[in-house]
Amino acid sequence: MPSNATDCVEPANPRHIAIIMDGNGRWAQKRFMPRAFGHQAGVKAVRKIVEFCAEQKIEVLTLFAFSSENWRRPEDEVSLLMGLFMATLQREINKLDRNNIRLRFIGDRSALSSQLQAKMAEGEQQTQTNDALTLVVAVNYGGHWDMCQAFQKVFDKITAGELENPTINNQLINQHLSTTDLPDPDLFIRTGGEQRVSNFMLWQLAYTELYFTPILWPDFDQDALALAIESFKGRQRRFGHTGEQMLNKPITL
Ligand code: IPE
Ligand code: IPE
Ligand code: MG
Repeated sequence: MPSNATDCVEPANPRHIAIIMDGNGRWAQKRFMPRAFGHQAGVKAVRKIVEFCAEQKIEVLTLFAFSSENWRRPEDEVSLLMGLFMATLQREINKLDRNNIRLRFIGDRSALSSQLQAKMAEGEQQTQTNDALTLVVAVNYGGHWDMCQAFQKVFDKITAGELENPTINNQLINQHLSTTDLPDPDLFIRTGGEQRVSNFMLWQLAYTELYFTPILWPDFDQDALALAIESFKGRQRRFGHTGEQMLNKPITL
């Protein structure tokens, strides 16, 4: 007989997987090709991973596509990334819609071209009632930006008299982050071998399980993601409790 009920329960899949897709440039350089070639190969990897997450019934997949710091890259690489982003949206929105995938963007859009902003809004609108996977793409996103814009919104509401004597607590901050209606990531993956967070979802990663792999993003495939999910399922999330407490009574945040 199992010692308690949890022994016979298959560990759950992560509800929300958030990925820093890193290593495109090195993937191309290894092949003596320009970095652009790596970014193009990266888009193909995105397609495979999105399909796999939909098949696995993952609720939310967040992909870090362009950070608030990536503007520091050479101008031609930045415009290539923006062009690739636009072309990918033009090609994929209908396909995502057909597959019942809801597309969302987080990040500061104001710095993006008006055509790109319009395409992003169109993609969100067209897919807003879909209820399979939610695909969140982080563009010109930074964790610092997200917190600053949340604090600014709270401040503006107080100034406008819409929030009287507010208590600053987790709930209030969560309500104003760009991810307000999404669960926090359960599993964070960074490809490309670096072991850092690079200003990604700083608030939301508080209790996320972290997984780092040396695989460069264009080589990251279904099998590699399945391994990451297996690693996640083998972990005990304690949220500050003891291990024994969690065995007796599974608790989530
Ligand atoms: C990630 O790959 C893609 C973006 C940041 C847009 P990189 O371009 O950072 O690839 P490496 O780290 O130089 O190999
Ligand atoms: C993080 O990768 C951003 C994205 C993948 C979009 P970077 O390659 O920009 O991160 P750093 O500069 O090595 O920390
Ligand atoms: Mg990189």
